[in-house]
This record gives sequence, structure tokens and C-alpha cells, in this order.
Amino acid sequence: MKDLDVNDITEAVIEQMATTPDPRLREIMEAAVRHLHAFAREVKLTPDEWLKGIAFLTAVGQACTPYRQEFILFSDTIGLSRLVNVMHDAQGREAAGTETSLLGPFFREKAPEIALGGTLAHVSKGPEIVLYGQVTNAEGKPVPGAEVDVWQTNAEGLYDLQANDPSVMDMRGRLRCDAEGRFHFRTVRPIGYSIPMDGPVGELVRKQNRHGFRPAHIHILIAAPGYRELVTALYFADDEHVDSDTVFGVSKSLVVSPSSDLPDAPVPGIPSIRYDFTLSRETDGAGGRVGSDPSKLVPAG
Ligand code: BEZ
Ligand code: FE
Repeated sequence: MKDLDVNDITEAVIEQMATTPDPRLREIMEAAVRHLHAFAREVKLTPDEWLKGIAFLTAVGQACTPYRQEFILFSDTIGLSRLVNVMHDAQGREAAGTETSLLGPFFREKAPEIALGGTLAHVSKGPEIVLYGQVTNAEGKPVPGAEVDVWQTNAEGLYDLQANDPSVMDMRGRLRCDAEGRFHFRTVRPIGYSIPMDGPVGELVRKQNRHGFRPAHIHILIAAPGYRELVTALYFADDEHVDSDTVFGVSKSLVVSPSSDLPDAPVPGIPSIRYDFTLSRETDGAGGRVGSDPSKLVPAG
């Protein structure tokens, strides 16, 4: 028998876990143990501090419900969701498509179908804008009939689930592109909003003197047979938090500004955004992104 010192303990754990038959589980747990032990050694973690860490993780778990996934929020606020999604985007596809962004917790299945040119604002009022563009593949060929699912906050910075009775669907909709992959719809200009700050993750964000805001954005999910589902968002350039998103969802290529002088704007007189989306073909069959269905992550019972 060996006395395990500060360094031996890591190898002893890895040796005991070496019997794991699933090679990927073995690789992941080995690396997790190595990095967690290195972290504890680096900061000289004390028992009191680790108990506080355990209390935090416990509170994160207890805050989860079928409608709220506090662990995903934690992963988002420490940049881990962004990192995992960016690595996923880079592998297994034939050519670069539109950059992706976080799905977030406010996506809802079966949003109202809207005709091309229709509006997302069924209840909310505010300054109108138009979003239009074309969905193509990596060779620039139109993707006819692509389904475009859109959701956003209203002009007060609230999603429908926060603003209304949950049975009301507002500021969201599903459109089908025409035969040239073109789409356009009207909406109300969204404003930025705070991530949920009433749980343990919000408490941590406050302790870090972070603002907790996401810049104004419109979420877009585009699906078409044979292509990798695109989950992305467009961010408004003039939002004060566009460079400091609390969940690290913004990429330069996704930043937009409405303009009143776009020659091909389909609804003249309303500030418009033109954005063309590129889908990449699915080559690896691997799906799933961080946050794709939070309700599946809550254990039954
Ligand atoms: C959102 O964009 O809706 C969102 C994303 C991550 C955390 C919280 C909100
Ligand atoms: Fe959002």
C-alpha cells in the first residue's frame, strides 16, 4: 500500500478508472480528473472553499426545473457552451457556413407559422424593422423551402414566456423560404436583456461585478433536409453590450444594423436588415448543441 501525496493521488485515481470499458468515457474522465486536480493544486483549494463550491453546484441543480436549466446558464456564463459549440462547428462539415450562436433557453417548438412578409409581433408593439435575405448552400445555390424559425424579445426586452401567459406565443414565428431560398418578415426591434439573475448563477455573476446583460438580438434556427441545422442569432451593433455579452454568443460576422436605404428592401419605408445565411451539408451525422432541449435534462420524478 502506498501513501498518496499531493501528486500521487491523481495517478491513483486514473489507474483505478482504467477499467472503464467505454474508451471515450475513460478518456473524458481521465482528463477531467487530471485538470480538476491540477486546478485544486494551483489555487491551493481549502476544504471550506471546496464545500462552498459543492454548495454552489447543489444550488445550481436545485434551481433546475423543466423550464429552467441553471447548469446550462452556468456553462454559458463561463464560456464553456461557446467553446463546445465552436469546436462542434469546426468539425464534420464540408465548408464553412454561417457562424452559429447559442440557442438559449427561450426557444419554443411549434411557433406560429407566418407567411413571407408577415410579422412576428402578434401582441407586442414597438418600432418596426424588416429582416430579409436568402438561404444558400456553401456553393451559393439557393436552398428552396428552408424552414426559418425566429424568436426574440419584445421592445421591453422580454420573451413571450416572461411577458405573457405561457399559452401566448409572441415575437416568434416559423417561415418557409420561397423557391429561391428567399425570406422576409416584419418584426419589432428587440432590446437587450438580463440573463436570469435570481438564481445561484446570477449571484455569482453579481459577485464578479459583471453586468449580466445580453445585447439585443434575434435568434434564428434554419433547417432543410440534407443540411446541418443552423442555430444562430443576429446582434445589433449599437447595443452597449455588444462587446461584452455575458454568455459570449456574439461573433463579428453576426453583428447587424438596420438601414433605411437598402435598394432591394422588400418593404420600403421600414428600416431593414439584409442577412444571407449559408447552410453546410451534414457530413458526420453528429447533432446536438449545448442547450438544444433543456427539458430533457431534468431527471424525471
Ligand atoms: C438567450 O439568448 O436567450 C440566452 C442565452 C443564454 C443564456 C440566457 C439567455
Ligand atoms: Fe436570447
